[in-house]
Amino acid sequence: MKKIKEITKGKAKSMYTTEVDDQLIMHFSDDTSAFDGKKKEALLGKGAVNNQFNAFIMSHLKENGIDTHLIEVINSTDSLVYKLDMFPIECVIRNRASGSICRRLGTEDGLVLENPLFEFFLKDDDLGDPLINDEHIISFNWANMKQILEMKKQTYKVNEILSKLFIDSGLILVDFKVEFGVFNGKILLADEFTPDGCRLWDSKTLKKMDKDRFRQGLGDVVESYHQVADRLGMNIKT
Ligand code: ADP
Ligand code: TMP
Ligand code: ASP
Repeated sequence: MKKIKEITKGKAKSMYTTEVDDQLIMHFSDDTSAFDGKKKEALLGKGAVNNQFNAFIMSHLKENGIDTHLIEVINSTDSLVYKLDMFPIECVIRNRASGSICRRLGTEDGLVLENPLFEFFLKDDDLGDPLINDEHIISFNWANMKQILEMKKQTYKVNEILSKLFIDSGLILVDFKVEFGVFNGKILLADEFTPDGCRLWDSKTLKKMDKDRFRQGLGDVVESYHQVADRLGMNIKT
């Protein structure tokens, strides 16, 4: 499958049309962004590790009953996916408090939450991805109630499957963001699941192994992503 035309260039990935109308090539670049694009840098090898990391996780989710947009990996940085109508929404689950919720509610970093906490955010960098709820989504017609319930159900299921996968490799899934879209009337998990869009801490030392290393200038960003991949038994080609 060949790339024909770049249709979107985002902060970390580009999407290309292909010879097949409803299939896209998703290219993972080395570009790394934080704080809604305010901090940017190219980190050598990040695109390759993220593409293969994403494929490993999406395949694991598929084996466990989650339908995803991934068709196949094409090369080290590119994957073939179904072209979806994306919801302009981000679905976040937090198992511990970290990041924006600490700023919002004055919570200590790492506080273990009684229950996994689901939050919706509007995907809009200019507005700083504001927190929204079901009522906003219905009122602004970003999705209907059936779709809202389905996205929540799938995101909780992703949390259950991946929390287990990571803890078995000595990692705590602190929180993560996923995106969904519609393909032939069905809701599919889309975009990516990589250390760019989640928080992963070493379960013994609580060392941060995810994009917070970039956000907080801790260094060894791509190296940490590789360490996580190694722990999960991925065989990343650089
Ligand atoms: P951002 O938009 O946040 O800068 P990226 O650089 O990751 O993010 O760009 C990828 C874009 O492609 C995102 O806007 C995402 O919603 C979109 N996308 C992800 N998967 C699909 C898909 N299967 N079909 C259509 N669009 C997708
Ligand atoms: P937050 O603490 O900034 O709200 O982020 C919660 C989790 O979701 C964290 O793992 C990072 C991820 N996330 C993204 O990847 N992109 C986003 O735009 C947002 C808002 C969160
Ligand atoms: N995903 C957003 C960005 O790339 C927010 C963040 O990760 O801090 O800027």
